[in-house]
Amino acid sequence: MGLGGGWPSGPLGAAEVAAAHDAVDAALEAGISVFDHADIYAHGKAEEVFGKVLAQRPGLRDQVHLQTKCGIVLPGAHHPGRYDSSREAVIARVEDSLRRLGTDRVETLLIHRPDPLAHPEEIASAFVQLRNAGKVLRLGVSNMSADQMRWLQSALPEPLAANQLEMSLYRSQWLESGVLVNHPEAAGLGFPHGVLEYCQAGGVELQAWGPLAQGRYSGAPGTAETGPDAATAELVAELADEKECAPEAVVLGWLMRHPAGIRPVVGTSSPDRIRACAEAGRVARSMDRAQWYALWISARGRALP
Ligand SMILES: NC(=O)c1ccc[n+]([C@@H]2O[C@H](COP(=O)([O-])OP(=O)(O)OC[C@H]3O[C@@H](n4cnc5c(N)ncnc54)[C@H](OP(=O)(O)O)[C@@H]3O)[C@@H](O)[C@H]2O)c1
Repeated sequence: MGLGGGWPSGPLGAAEVAAAHDAVDAALEAGISVFDHADIYAHGKAEEVFGKVLAQRPGLRDQVHLQTKCGIVLPGAHHPGRYDSSREAVIARVEDSLRRLGTDRVETLLIHRPDPLAHPEEIASAFVQLRNAGKVLRLGVSNMSADQMRWLQSALPEPLAANQLEMSLYRSQWLESGVLVNHPEAAGLGFPHGVLEYCQAGGVELQAWGPLAQGRYSGAPGTAETGPDAATAELVAELADEKECAPEAVVLGWLMRHPAGIRPVVGTSSPDRIRACAEAGRVARSMDRAQWYALWISARGRALP
């Protein structure tokens, strides 16, 4: 999402292309070969700059797995903005993404958010057309509940591949919704209860957006100096020392320690920070229950029920 110069509008320049090359190099070195896009990121410039990187590096396309999303409409002159997952829009947006990326296919397409006006049959029909043309290999969703997935699944000829949701040590409603069943504190939780279980039971890949909590526990400027955030950042730093890794790897390792096999969709485009994430898998494997619960309880700022 951060590639291509970010959200401020303006043309793509040589600096953005060079930064994208550096980010891709750092990612490949760290063993990362899946790249998450969306038609709207940086108003299309994230895909465009990635397309330039691919064009300048023959052979790279076959080493990477590209994922993009469609379904969100940014406000503009002809639309007040928000959602469009109609058949026509899905096909047109994918064609636009392929053109910007300079490729003939994306491995995964996600429907970015639920569109109350879309019908499962429409999305399914768009997907089948794109899949038969070899333009999209698998379909997934983002920010959807288990019920919404089940409904869409009922129209699809094959299983949904993934659901991308906000999940992190800070945004821990994905866990809270499970442990606060039958508990007054469950009221107001903004996470669809049961989606984790639905995905695990059906072999649907769970992807976490916002997994670093924008650096809240790993040194981002402006983090509170007291309270749960500060205490958690301290605990993360202690564990990072013990496990000989960067704090980012502890934050991601905590997420990956969960048995659902969550794949963090890391949003940094800084090469150093990408490298700092590389040890997350090792950290997850070595994180014991006491460490995992200590991090969660610290970040939530109060005991578990
Ligand atoms: N499906 C959806 O609805 C949805 C929504 C949002 C995002 N996404 C996807 O998920 C990805 C990750 O989301 P995200 O970017 O919100 O989350 P993130 O990975 O938690 O945070 C990344 C952001 O935090 C900054 N950051 C991280 N650690 C930092 C530190 N120690 N100090 C200063 N800054 C730090 C990064 O800046 P630097 O680049 O400088 O490191 C970057 O801007 C996105 O790139 C996008 O692909 C999906």
